[in-house]
Amino acid sequence: MILVTGAAGFIGANFVLDWFVERDEPVVNLDLLTYAGNLGNLASLRDDPRHVFVRGDIGDRTLVEGLLGRYRPRAIVNFAAESHVDRSIHGPAEFIATNVVGSFNLLDVAKAHWLALPDAEREAFRFLHVSTDEVYGSLGPGDPAFSETTPYAPNSPYSASKAASDHLVRAYHHTYGLPTLTSNCSNNYGPLQFPEKLIPLMIVNALAGKPLPVYGDGQNVRDWLYVGDHCSALRAVLDGGRPGETYNVGGNAEIRNLDVVHTLCRVLAECVPGRDFTQQIAFVKDRPGHDRRYAIDASKIRHELAWAPRETFATGLARTVRWYLDHRAWVDAVTSGEYQKWISLNYEAGASDPA
Ligand code: NAD
Ligand code: TYD
Repeated sequence: MILVTGAAGFIGANFVLDWFVERDEPVVNLDLLTYAGNLGNLASLRDDPRHVFVRGDIGDRTLVEGLLGRYRPRAIVNFAAESHVDRSIHGPAEFIATNVVGSFNLLDVAKAHWLALPDAEREAFRFLHVSTDEVYGSLGPGDPAFSETTPYAPNSPYSASKAASDHLVRAYHHTYGLPTLTSNCSNNYGPLQFPEKLIPLMIVNALAGKPLPVYGDGQNVRDWLYVGDHCSALRAVLDGGRPGETYNVGGNAEIRNLDVVHTLCRVLAECVPGRDFTQQIAFVKDRPGHDRRYAIDASKIRHELAWAPRETFATGLARTVRWYLDHRAWVDAVTSGEYQKWISLNYEAGASDPA
């Protein structure tokens, strides 16, 4: 079996759901169920004995030791994190606690467990750390895309905390020989994404007749990847990645934010005829320290592990919009309560006043 952390969140839940389509190997899911974690994401697995859910913190050493001892997973896949840049600007402390200290704890307990394994199990064991392209910082318009050798230059508390965890993973391989793998992926989108991130926020606001808040001039570029393609990349890295290596994962789909929003308005209008969602676009004050451009060179994973994305931005976005239209109850559930507090903090309390 494998231990997957943070699998009640967006990518982790997609990973586990896809995993069981492909394989029968059981999964222990360790998730703290923060605002971003939602067991409803895994409702279809409620009666599935292959999925064991444990609510808890990756920073809880006793808990993690107990899980490793009891289940003896052959691999750990670490998704658990605070993941939203804007939240890291308003409150970085939780990002340090989970992304840095929590990841350190997981690594350290994993190392002790791994060292005590019999030879064959020790040889086969893997620790896959799921990270982000944001650790590389911001690109200028003509700069080459991020490769695995691009120097780290994180700019937000979020990306700095992920960079710190990546360095710890590297050190645990280099110093102790722990068979680690690290993936650095570009922006994901798709079903189950919490509507604080650009694409689901725009879908939810558009349908509710609310403003579509574009930060700054809307010319920032992100490299978009459909979440199912990220999950297939992670399976490829887990299966065939070389211990100690890092793999960049991206969709080869660099798009400016304003173009993303216009495309989304067009796709939504095809599904909900008679509405012009572009009327709702509103330019708002920029995010502090906003990275201008991200782009991924995914040639290493393509060549070494024969991975390539299946979805284009057009096909992935159409699937995503359809999913949100078909899952209004999910949207209603996650946008009640705490969510409203976040929206007023980030968009109404001065951070995003109209430019
Ligand atoms: P998410 O915020 O949707 O989910 C994070 C999950 O981690 C939640 O279920 C939450 O409850 C859980 N969690 C948080 N703190 C925890 C703790 N201390 N112990 C146990 N569980 C905890 O995030 P996501 O978008 O699914 O991202 C997953 C991972 O992928 C993160 O590590 C993120 O840095 C990385 N990543 C995300 C993207 C993206 O575009 N979303 C891109 C590249 C990499
Ligand atoms: P986001 O989804 O938060 O991902 P990240 O910051 O990790 O790349 O944002 C994607 C881009 O969209 C980023 O350039 C910021 C921008 N953005 C907006 O313009 N408006 C918004 O309301 C949000 C949430 C993001």
